[in-house]
Amino acid sequence: MRRGQGELRIGLLGCGTVGGAVVRLLRTNGAEIRRRTGVGLHLARVAVAHPEKSRGLVFDPGVLTGDAAEVVGDPQVDVIAEVMGGVEPARRLLLDAIERGKSVVTANKQLIARHGVELFGAAARAGVDLRLEASVGGGLPVIQPLKESLAANRVLEVAGILNGTTNYILTKMADEGWEFEEALQDAQRRGFAEADPTDDVDGHDAAAKLAILATIAFHTPVHADDVYREGIRRVSAQDIAFARELGFAVKLLALAREQQGRIEARVHPALLPLDHPLASIRNELNAVFVRGDFAGEVMTVGRGAGGEPTASAVVADLIDVARNHRAGAHGRVGWEASEPRPLRPIEDTASPVYLLMQVTDRPGVFARIAAIFGEEGVSIASIVQKSRGQTADIVIVTHTALESQMRRVLARLEGLDVLHTVRNAIRVAGEV
Ligand code: NDP
Ligand code: HSE
Repeated sequence: MRRGQGELRIGLLGCGTVGGAVVRLLRTNGAEIRRRTGVGLHLARVAVAHPEKSRGLVFDPGVLTGDAAEVVGDPQVDVIAEVMGGVEPARRLLLDAIERGKSVVTANKQLIARHGVELFGAAARAGVDLRLEASVGGGLPVIQPLKESLAANRVLEVAGILNGTTNYILTKMADEGWEFEEALQDAQRRGFAEADPTDDVDGHDAAAKLAILATIAFHTPVHADDVYREGIRRVSAQDIAFARELGFAVKLLALAREQQGRIEARVHPALLPLDHPLASIRNELNAVFVRGDFAGEVMTVGRGAGGEPTASAVVADLIDVARNHRAGAHGRVGWEASEPRPLRPIEDTASPVYLLMQVTDRPGVFARIAAIFGEEGVSIASIVQKSRGQTADIVIVTHTALESQMRRVLARLEGLDVLHTVRNAIRVAGEV
């Protein structure tokens, strides 16, 4: 088979959860894909770390190897699909493939969120495609819609629930009244959460995905480390119950937006008004909500993880690469980070804030607390107070306040002798 005829010989790097599903998808739907699109996708070589491992798939002799560099260098391979994960050796292998004039498809969010600029620069110079639909939101169509369907818009905001594990945990905490640890164990039993859940629950996974979305939406390079990040470990069942009483759901929100020429990118727990489109995204589902100046609000919802949904995105990218090759239009990298813009640090952002405090229950305490908010120029929007005998829980939701103002309020509250603890402070999405 030759390039330029809608025939593509694929070198697959990795055959685990996603790679195995890519193989099964090609075997199940390959003939139908060819019939519908005229594109023939041939699995020429597959590289894994442990070729001897049983993986329930049979390959022709010579297809499977333990040497990924051999697959990249194989003249019988036209395109590389990288589903092995990790930054190295994936980065080096993809650069090698690109230098050899091979298009690449990847599901690797950590790689793109850290080395996207380098990889896309190399792909542009080499005139090959670099596709990454699966790197954000698994099977959810989000990169192509942002790059193509919404290309005519100035994007004002991209907000998402980009991590299925944390969304599942928060949904269970809300539905069952469980604390974080119990919901995490349930997510681990069901195979959503890893044995080491750090990447998911501390927001690293969502931050990498947001960095990619922000880069594409705002045409400016955003690195994973540029994204402000807080995870969900501090969120309690009590926070979720109070939030609901006040008309909010608690979600791990990934938010990027442009304000006065600066880009803000952050991942943290947030109270979302119950009528916000993202508030209704439950369990392990992901969603991406985009606000464009002409398109208005657009949202996509779907499975952000799992072999099959992710393979669906990988193979869709392969079909597009094959179409491009057939049309002689390869090199459409679509990463036009042409106007680098400054990033807005979290200290300069503003949001309404929810605060849960435990205080001594006696006359005058609330007045002292309210005075601190007033003196720092922070306006209180709502209050809930529940007496628990000697102590009381106080929940305050503020109007929009600068992060710096809220930090001063918190520091002064911590100094009050009648305040036992500030249990949590969670930003609220939107205006209150
Ligand atoms: P797995 O751990 O299940 O699979 C990784 C595969 O890569 C394995 O087949 C492994 O070989 C192979 N591999 C690892 N190192 C090497 C190496 N040096 N050379 C050759 N092969 C190697 O990972 P997933 O399939 O879950 O994830 C793959 C990628 O897809 C990651 O970037 C991930 O972030 C991304 N992704 C995953 C999603 C998911 O739901 N799983 C969703 C969206 C994106 P062996 O099998 O022999 O050990
Ligand atoms: N672990 C991720 C999640 C999926 O829970 O959404 C892979 O990015």
